[in-house]
Amino acid sequence: MLIFKTVVELQQFLLSYANKTIGFVPTMGALHQGHLSLMAKAIEENDLMVCSIFVNPTQFNNKEDLEKYPRHTDKDLAFIQNAFADNAKLVIFLPDVKEIYPNKIEKSYDFGNLSLVMEAQHRPGHFDGVGMVLERFFDVVQPTRAYFGEKDFQQLAVVRNLVKQLKLPVQIIGCPIVREANGLAMSSRNERLTPEQKEQAANIYKFLQDAKQQAKILSVEEVKNNFISAIKNILALQLEYLEIADGNTLTPITNWEETTYCVAFVAVFVGNVRLIDNVTLYS
Ligand code: PAJ
Repeated sequence: MLIFKTVVELQQFLLSYANKTIGFVPTMGALHQGHLSLMAKAIEENDLMVCSIFVNPTQFNNKEDLEKYPRHTDKDLAFIQNAFADNAKLVIFLPDVKEIYPNKIEKSYDFGNLSLVMEAQHRPGHFDGVGMVLERFFDVVQPTRAYFGEKDFQQLAVVRNLVKQLKLPVQIIGCPIVREANGLAMSSRNERLTPEQKEQAANIYKFLQDAKQQAKILSVEEVKNNFISAIKNILALQLEYLEIADGNTLTPITNWEETTYCVAFVAVFVGNVRLIDNVTLYS
């Protein structure tokens, strides 16, 4: 496993991979099995896997969230090393903020409807930050393929849109959500939850599964109302939004006939930790 901290050193090394395939996995660290699943796929499908660990300040719209974001790079490196023992295909990129943003930049992108709904609406500027950091990373790494989790479903759609807009020669690969045994979607932010809160948070997935059972049998409104009341009954959970939307456009629907690919999306606060999750209701 090779570790680089600067753009110059990384690019120097990548010169020897000019005619080979590079699979890129961008992360913000505090790694878990969800991140590992992306890395495993990237290793399997490419000659080299580059994983970045960088807590990107421009995508945080909440100062406290940025400050409290879990950071433990040494533990992350040991975690990767143990997971992929004997693997010569691993490169880890650990830049600091100056490496990624040598000059102050502020960009705003038009991702169409994706700039208006759900995460974009509740976290103003978030996807501009994601766009800026990925534009920079794609430029530095020049990957053949880049891997993103469906856990951040809207982010995956935004990245596909970004790559199309900028006509970048990278293939975007979506990967399924990895969950704890109790159904809770793995997330770096789960580290900030107490064991009791983690148990309560597992209800998010349970209620999404209930919604899946009810889809097409009850109306969209009834399914939404059932989910909202179920969450209200768990005192530790506070719903920020629930949307039932078309999985391609992310446009909310009011009637099942409006889409053949339907996904339910939620953002829920557990104390002051914000979690997101989604489940395909039908496709
Ligand atoms: P981060 O939250 O660290 O996630 C890195 C990648 O891991 C993302 O593509 C995310 O969707 C995926 N991931 C997270 N939890 C997952 C799970 N339970 N199952 C499957 N995949 C999961 O997303 C970011 O970082 C940042 O926005 C980033 C893309 C790195 C840009 O800064």
